[in-house]
Amino acid sequence: MACLLTMTSCSAAEVPAAGSRTNPGSAKLTSESQPMTAFADVPADAWYAEAVAYCQQNGIMSGTTDTTFAPEATLTRAMLVTILWRQAEKPVVNYLMQFSDVPEGQWHSEAVRWAASEKLMAGYGDGRFGINDPITQEQLNLIFQRYTGQPVTGDIPGFDGSSKPVTRAQAAMAVMNFAQLSTEKKEIGMFNFEAKTVMLNSGYVMPLNGLGTYSLHGEICINSVKSALASGVRLIDTASAYGNEEEVGQAIREAMEEFGIQREEIFVTTKIYPGSEMANPERSIQACLDRLDIGYVDLMLLHHPDRNDVKAYQAMEKFVEEGKIRSIGLSNWYVKELEEFLPQVTITPALVQNEIHPYYQENDVIPYIQDLGIVVQGWYPLGGRGHTAELLGDEVISGIAKAHGVSSAQVILRWNLQKGVVVIPGSSNPDHIEENTEIYDFALTNAEMDQINALDRGEKHDWY
Ligand SMILES: NC(=O)c1ccc[n+]([C@@H]2O[C@H](COP(=O)([O-])OP(=O)(O)OC[C@H]3O[C@@H](n4cnc5c(N)ncnc54)[C@H](OP(=O)(O)O)[C@@H]3O)[C@@H](O)[C@H]2O)c1
Repeated sequence: MACLLTMTSCSAAEVPAAGSRTNPGSAKLTSESQPMTAFADVPADAWYAEAVAYCQQNGIMSGTTDTTFAPEATLTRAMLVTILWRQAEKPVVNYLMQFSDVPEGQWHSEAVRWAASEKLMAGYGDGRFGINDPITQEQLNLIFQRYTGQPVTGDIPGFDGSSKPVTRAQAAMAVMNFAQLSTEKKEIGMFNFEAKTVMLNSGYVMPLNGLGTYSLHGEICINSVKSALASGVRLIDTASAYGNEEEVGQAIREAMEEFGIQREEIFVTTKIYPGSEMANPERSIQACLDRLDIGYVDLMLLHHPDRNDVKAYQAMEKFVEEGKIRSIGLSNWYVKELEEFLPQVTITPALVQNEIHPYYQENDVIPYIQDLGIVVQGWYPLGGRGHTAELLGDEVISGIAKAHGVSSAQVILRWNLQKGVVVIPGSSNPDHIEENTEIYDFALTNAEMDQINALDRGEKHDWY
């Protein structure tokens, strides 16, 4: 009998050893004309070519012969558990397995032991595992649900979750899609200090520092936003309540034209306000889009909790579906509010924006939010107008600033970043705007972080 899948009828010795894991997709070759694998039945332009290359290079699936992969061949239960076991990096488990058709020492024995111990696949009532029985698409979905927490993901040709058997090409795609998803999940919320960005749970990337536009109006607002964009700032925060979305939009359009910046390079946040705006959310959201007039909005937040906040959030979810808003989130939401709110909505907020500065640190709230895979952004990072002198003149902060040859504002912004908090300082002064971007060439020591952490007074500088 032909060795259909190395795992059906070949010995363990014939199964290629798992190579070192690479990032999903790294198997892709640079030249589109070159085949991704040496398999004659896997053309370079086949929808499964990248997945087959990924599985082969990571030791998850091999060919049926040296030159064939048999993409259309179907899978048995033993083959499938072995693929998942290899994908999980061959865990060795201490579990008493007593299937009558799975003797010890077979190529699939450890994989079946692992799958049984993880309750991914149970045996039959007659004591068999059913190693040679085929796997259907419906069963694969169930197994994936148990293994990954969700059914098979991605658009896989011919895969509709029905009782049709799973092909090797489909299995390779399912495994690669899952690997890609878990890599992306690992990156969510991680600050990339080189790129100066963070990946949101929506899959979009956001800059780590931006410009806040609260209380900036007219020409001052336009000039501040353009100044920021000219200084390399790519994150702009506004809100319907600030009454300056039109100026922000105008400044962005002008800067795109004058400085040659693409819309996709700029990340714009706006917010809708409690009361009448949240009572009529579709109208309010559309009004923000119209006032900004920059195509889509990168991130829209609910400005504060409100009796209509769930309804307003659900309206934002619809705008996400329509592609008019890319990510959505909340502002001024704390632990209790999040606990009540999250079960009522479908899309997990990408970001929560709360008051955070050295005198009001929210040390209990920040990790709670971050553990949910939600990015935290701080407003009033410098204490807010009327309080900046106190913070910037703080002895501890000034001392640290002096030691690094930077300003107090830069120390505070850097402290935020090192706590995993995105910063949006407000300013109408081009020198300050530029200074606030120069926070990546020095780092605070643990002792300095501790010194600033010790300044917390629980002192809120605004009522919400
Ligand atoms: N979600 C919410 O509820 C909420 C609430 C409040 C604010 N926000 C957002 O958070 C942003 C930040 O808050 P904010 O602008 O009110 O307060 P902030 O950033 O804490 O402080 C702004 C003040 O700091 C000064 N400043 C900025 N950079 C400086 C520097 N390098 N050196 C010395 N002074 C400097 C500014 O003066 P100059 O103009 O002279 O530079 C301005 O007076 C807002 O703009 C808004 O986008 C959100």
